[in-house]
Amino acid sequence: MNFSDSGIVASVLTEKGFSFTDDIHQADIVFLNTCAIRENAELKVRQRLQDFKKNKKQNPEFIVGVLGCMAERLKSQLLDEEKLVDLVAGPDAYRDLPRLIESVEGGQKSVNVQLSLEETYADIRPVRIASNGVTAFISIMRGCDNMCSFCVVPFTRGRERSRHPQSILAEAAQLFDDGFREITLLGQNVDSYLWHPDTNTKREILKTELKNDSVSFARLLDMTAGINPDLRIRFSTSNPRDMTDEVLYVMAKHDNICKYIHLPVQSGNSEVLCRMNRGYTREEYVHRIESIRRILPGCGISTDIISGFCSETEVQHRETLSLMEWAAFDFAYMFKYSERPGTAAAKNFKDNIPDEVKSRRLQEIVDLQMQLSLRSNKKDVGKAHLVLVEGISKKSDKNLFGRNTQNKVVVFAKENFKPGDYVNVFVTDCTSATLIGTSLI
Ligand code: 5AD
Ligand code: SF4
Repeated sequence: MNFSDSGIVASVLTEKGFSFTDDIHQADIVFLNTCAIRENAELKVRQRLQDFKKNKKQNPEFIVGVLGCMAERLKSQLLDEEKLVDLVAGPDAYRDLPRLIESVEGGQKSVNVQLSLEETYADIRPVRIASNGVTAFISIMRGCDNMCSFCVVPFTRGRERSRHPQSILAEAAQLFDDGFREITLLGQNVDSYLWHPDTNTKREILKTELKNDSVSFARLLDMTAGINPDLRIRFSTSNPRDMTDEVLYVMAKHDNICKYIHLPVQSGNSEVLCRMNRGYTREEYVHRIESIRRILPGCGISTDIISGFCSETEVQHRETLSLMEWAAFDFAYMFKYSERPGTAAAKNFKDNIPDEVKSRRLQEIVDLQMQLSLRSNKKDVGKAHLVLVEGISKKSDKNLFGRNTQNKVVVFAKENFKPGDYVNVFVTDCTSATLIGTSLI
């Protein structure tokens, strides 16, 4: 999400005559687009800020700006804590950056952390920073109303709002014309996407006759897939509470919608899920996965898991492990619980699992996932996979890498193929992270 937002920032500024560089030595201004989701993310930002001391020394006019969620969370306090910082802007304030920069140039530190109920940056065509020219993100909504008790996002990114569907379709069509072959529709909770021409208050759209004129995520997905059969569509993140079978049927209908769903579970125990305010039980999550397997056989499924949430018992932790086994996730992002100030969990529960217990549980989760990923990849050996080539393999410039529909990385010999090509690859070997194969011509 931040990566995608940085493209919006670059676009706002290039419109005003600034130019963009990825070489810090060329830069007069540096922006850090920051994450606040775990304490570690913020510590990394604070360390990174120290690197800019020398730039300030060499050039007293050098401007350091902090953008994104950490900026939103700490507001002007960040200016007191990090003397190096000149400018602080939250995720809804990027249109204001030219004014904020001017104010810094006039000798003042500047802050805008105003959140918005409407801002979706719908009209802004993001600069495709560090692009491979093949895959791109399109932000379809902003904010989150879910209020999971551990999560700082609703506070840093504000209320949920959906972007005008025509602007999403236009951006996708333009990307295809520019040679891109895969887009990922992005939102904190894409299943909650709901747009109506007259209001962006979701409660109103749902309760009135307005519902008929509204565009749901399933509808948006259907329309996006219709742009061109050679444009692959992915999306992230799905939410077990809001995902409907309708979305699964749209996925089944279109070959170019990738058969891959990222469905964060967080915990395998219903009592912990309740304290996390996730809005579903273990059984309901199991039911969701069963629907996916039924409607989309062979669909890749990945998840997010948090170890050591407040008062999590050993038995509850083992329920997470057993759910992982049952679901046979292909991939997982796994984290230790990190208390975030201001969240419901920080207010209502004690962060009472010792760090070494959190770490040990996390390690058990990681070890199990390694086995599950390897098991899943082994099932793909001996089969052909349609791969969209993204670039040269990191390990050898004689090989290319790309992804199959299930989002698995596939490496194979380069021959005459190039990024953007669709190649049928016969998989002969694998690790827990990669499929290895040869092209079928
Ligand atoms: N501590 C640890 N992990 C967290 N996540 C969100 N908030 C926290 C937190 N306070 C994880 C969740 C979420 C992913 C993006 O980050 O697993 O799905
Ligand atoms: Fe955070 Fe929950 Fe929203 Fe995801 S759905 S961003 S975990 S509040």
